[in-house]
Amino acid sequence: MNRRREDLKENLRRRGLFLRSMIANPREVGAVWPTSRWAVRDLLEMGDLARARTVVEFGVGTGVYTEEVLKQLHPEGTFLAFEIDPALASAVGARLKDPRLRVINDSAENVEDYLEGAKADYIVSSVPFTSLPADVRRSLLEAARNALAPDGQMLILQYSTAVLPYLQSTFPKIQRRFSPLNIPPAFLFACSAAVLADGARSVEEAPLEGSVEKIPYVLASLVLGALILLLLLGRRSISRR
Ligand SMILES: C[S@@+](CC[C@H](N)C(=O)[O-])C[C@H]1O[C@@H](n2cnc3c(N)ncnc32)[C@H](O)[C@@H]1O
Repeated sequence: MNRRREDLKENLRRRGLFLRSMIANPREVGAVWPTSRWAVRDLLEMGDLARARTVVEFGVGTGVYTEEVLKQLHPEGTFLAFEIDPALASAVGARLKDPRLRVINDSAENVEDYLEGAKADYIVSSVPFTSLPADVRRSLLEAARNALAPDGQMLILQYSTAVLPYLQSTFPKIQRRFSPLNIPPAFLFACSAAVLADGARSVEEAPLEGSVEKIPYVLASLVLGALILLLLLGRRSISRR
C-alpha cells in the first residue's frame, strides 16, 4: 500500500515538474502531460532498438521514452538523451542511473558535438516541431539527419501531421502510423536517412496491429481526458467566484 502511495506521489511530482516546464516554455514543451507508455511502445516498435548500439533522444521530458529505450537497448549500447529544461534533465539524470545513459542539458541541435564522430542508429524524438521557431526546427532536423548512420532512423511522435512537409524535405523515406492510446491521440513517423536508389521519396502507411482491440481503451482514455478537463474548468470557475 505504502509502495503504491509512493509511486503515485512520484508520478504526480513528475507531472507537476512537466506542467511547470510547459507553463514556462510552451513552444518548446508543446504538451500538457507526458506521452502514454502505449504510444511510446507503438513508436519504438517502428524500429528495432535491440540491433542498435547508439541511440539518441531529443526532448527527454520526464523520461517516459528514456526508460523504455533502456529496456530495449543492447547491454553495450550508448544512449545520449537531450533535454533543454535543466530541472527536467537533472530529475531524469538523478532517477535513471544506468551506465549506458548520458542525460545532456543542451539543445539537441548540438548532437554531433557529443557523438564525437559516431553515428546514431536511432534518434527518438517528441519535441513539438510545429510549435518551435522555424530556424530551431530546421536545425534540429538537419542535425538529426547528419547524426544518423546510413541505415539509421529517426522515430518521431507528434500531435498532428503538420510536421510532414518538414520531414519530407529532410528525409527520403518516411513510414507513418496513428497511435490512438494517448491523450491526445498521436501521429508517429519513422524517417530513414538512406537515399533511395532512384533518388525517389516516399511516404508509406504502416498501420498499427491490433487497433480494433484497443478501441475500448481509446474510449476510456477519451472519457478520462474529458472528465479531467471538466474538473479543471469547474475548479477555475469556482475560484473566480
Ligand atoms: C512534448 S515534450 C515531450 C517530453 C517527453 N519525451 C514525453 O513525451 O513525455 C517535449 C520536450 O522536448 C524538450 N525540448 C524542446 N526543444 C528541445 C531542444 N532543442 N533540445 C532538447 N530538448 C528540447 C522540451 O523541454 C520538452 O521537455
